[in-house]
Amino acid sequence: MKALILAGGAGTRLRPITHTRAKQLVPVANKPILFYGVEAMVAAGITEIGVIVGDTRDEVMAALGDGSRFGAEITYIAQDAPLGLAHCVLIAQDFLGDDDFVMYLGDNLMEQDLAAFVAAFGSARVGAAPPTAQILLKQVPDPHRFGIASLDADGHVVHLVEKPDDPPSDLALVGVYLFTSRVHDAVAAIEPSARGELEITDAIQWLIDEGERVRCELLTGWWIDTGKLTPLLEANRLLLEQIETRIDGSVDAASSIEGRVVVAEGAEIVNSTVRGPVAIGRGARIVDSFIGPFSAVGANCVVERSEVEHSVLMDDSSVSDIARLADSLIGSDATVRRSTQKPRSLRLMVGDHCQIDVE
Ligand code: DAU
Repeated sequence: MKALILAGGAGTRLRPITHTRAKQLVPVANKPILFYGVEAMVAAGITEIGVIVGDTRDEVMAALGDGSRFGAEITYIAQDAPLGLAHCVLIAQDFLGDDDFVMYLGDNLMEQDLAAFVAAFGSARVGAAPPTAQILLKQVPDPHRFGIASLDADGHVVHLVEKPDDPPSDLALVGVYLFTSRVHDAVAAIEPSARGELEITDAIQWLIDEGERVRCELLTGWWIDTGKLTPLLEANRLLLEQIETRIDGSVDAASSIEGRVVVAEGAEIVNSTVRGPVAIGRGARIVDSFIGPFSAVGANCVVERSEVEHSVLMDDSSVSDIARLADSLIGSDATVRRSTQKPRSLRLMVGDHCQIDVE
């Protein structure tokens, strides 16, 4: 079994952050989204991983390296333009060979035991009517935003459609799929959709139409397609819920740490209150401030005389003299500061290297 992780594409909905970085590398709970996917593959026993990269290939390759830090061996597959999820399979054919594989969308995060999901496919493959694909479904309130599956009375997948105006069900395709090599026939046979992409939903529909069995499972835990600000902050919140307290940095006597908080090595908390769940990255400095629940402060950030809550501060950013910064995403090396004494409550999405001066 191999894995194909998709880390190309454009990321238009997280601009300005994605003007300067791959959307899959935005951190949640102080770790790039993409790392969770790679770790999930390794935890499922899959170490041969192909990663599709696009315009942001240099950054993705620098972050993942050869995969050895994850216990994996990574092969990069360059995609010249984001021509669709099925196009990714098409260009990965040499890497995938005849092996079964997991396809994982690099901007998805989910609370799912992928090892069990992968094992279930293996077991079903040796049974009667072995499936050639397996999908994971989740009921969603906004089905027009996803690939949608219809099931028959016996729970078999009969129809798939990509982002329908008039959704036939509320069962969305989650960004993890299992395939046998039969999918290569499908991606070679289908045509681009109206939006000009080779859709993986069309490839799976092709398999169904050819009489192949597509197994499905319903996801019970949470799942987040992180491509926009609100779901990204939601993913940050859910992952911070899982952290355990660990104080490797310094906390002075005038500060208090409440609840589950990670203070990484070299970080300093000075005359401040940190109320978890919160993660403070390496070398960050929190001075005369309040860091409230569900905040992730990246490495080497500085927060002074400010309140920060339910926000992601990327590495090397700084926030000074802001009465309250909430529900915000601050790019790396960005500065948010106030120059007058008037209190201000802010909700921001700030790109990398920006400076915001609040009057
Ligand atoms: O998140 C689940 C949804 O993902 C499914 O319900 C849909 O059926 C599926 O089409 C997909 O929809 P999205 O619109 O969310 O896909 P997106 O364009 O965001 O791409 C998903 C990931 O794949 C993302 O990490 C970028 C990468 N990608 C995407 C395309 C189109 C590539 O690497 N190459 C591509 O050509």
